[in-house]
Amino acid sequence: MTDFFKGISKIAYEGPETTNEFAFRHYNADEVVMGKTLKDHLRFSCAYWHSFAWPGGDPFGGQTFERPWFGETMALAKLKADFAFEMFDILGVPYFCFHDADVRPEGTNFAENTRNLEEIVDYFAQKMDDTGMKLLWGTANLFSNRRFMAGAATNPDPDVFAYSAATIKTCMDATIKLGGENYVLWGGREGYETLLNTDMGRERKQAGRMLEMVVDYKHKTGFKGAILIEPKPQEPTKHQYDYDVATVYGFLKDFGLENEVQVNIEQGHAILAGHTFEHELATARELGIFGSIDMNRNDYQSGWDTDQFPNNVPEMALAFYEVLRAGGFTTGGTNFDAKLRRQSLDPEDLILAHVGGMDACAAGLKAAAAMIEDGALEEARSARYSGWDTKRAQNLLVSDLEGVEQFVRDNDINPQPRSGRQERLENLVNSYL
Ligand code: GLC
Ligand code: MN
Repeated sequence: MTDFFKGISKIAYEGPETTNEFAFRHYNADEVVMGKTLKDHLRFSCAYWHSFAWPGGDPFGGQTFERPWFGETMALAKLKADFAFEMFDILGVPYFCFHDADVRPEGTNFAENTRNLEEIVDYFAQKMDDTGMKLLWGTANLFSNRRFMAGAATNPDPDVFAYSAATIKTCMDATIKLGGENYVLWGGREGYETLLNTDMGRERKQAGRMLEMVVDYKHKTGFKGAILIEPKPQEPTKHQYDYDVATVYGFLKDFGLENEVQVNIEQGHAILAGHTFEHELATARELGIFGSIDMNRNDYQSGWDTDQFPNNVPEMALAFYEVLRAGGFTTGGTNFDAKLRRQSLDPEDLILAHVGGMDACAAGLKAAAAMIEDGALEEARSARYSGWDTKRAQNLLVSDLEGVEQFVRDNDINPQPRSGRQERLENLVNSYL
């Protein structure tokens, strides 16, 4: 025990009426909904980078947070782990996620980075053993260090491609050693700033080859987890190649990897791509590549990736509705890829941000489960398409243009528009909230 969290004890479920801010109102981990506990539905995870590695900077100013573990030494990296695991325990989250650069000091070369990572992985392994914490996913930070400024896999310099591949291997090894359930690839710098200096075709092939190597290594090592790509349209690059779920699917198809790789979908990234979160989730479900979610909230006005903690229950209900329609998580989970506002300096802020996020997710999931169990939404949807249930309609899909023309003439087809009933459905959704 450290004194950083000032003796805040484990957060307990006290129900919607409680006035205790250090308690859950909706997240009752053991409550069973649709045959599963909320804990097993939601599979909450904390992101190491936002809560423990980020100093609170923005483009106009640097560090605002003062944390006893800040600094680039192994001793401080271990101290950081002590605080992180203490927070996981206070919150009762079962999982966490990290990049290599979040957890170990930056060394002077590849070998030193790898040694540092391995030492921390051993330290994590011991803590995970002691606490029962699990790793939702591991990943490599191939975007912060200046060596990656022109991309990792898509860099014009083959040495950076090589360094990136080698780093991914060490991060996959770390993930495997810690029993991680997924491995994530987010290509923050896999894109371009200007087409004037960019060979897009070449860069795309390099990205495809890197992904093939990752999948190949997964099979060689017998890693049972899922390989996940996390789409995002831009920021930090002007244009990122993994723009959105549909774009990633096209890329996977091109390299024959659509059955090997799934997606980790982030709320804020969906918004930046001009979509809703539920659009991205539904697209992944329909294409059979739904994997996991990064839960957060984007500011709708700023146009930046603001990574705020989620608090909009109606939005989350629609998102979890799509997650449940996809059959729920298998290896995936709900990772809080969310950070405090830079003025939220206190340790309590860190705890309460997660408590609020977990509660909002639980409330959203319960509303979504009610939508599924009641069935009225799905009934309305299937009624809307019921015309397609007949043999006559199905024949249209195997006919040709001449055949369909004949069909229209023979049956005197004269379509009659019907209401889409959108407002009624929106009212219905609100009735579950
Ligand atoms: C970066 C991205 C975040 C992503 C993570 C893991 O921190 O900002 O969205 O989930 O990397 O790849
Ligand atoms: Mn993310």
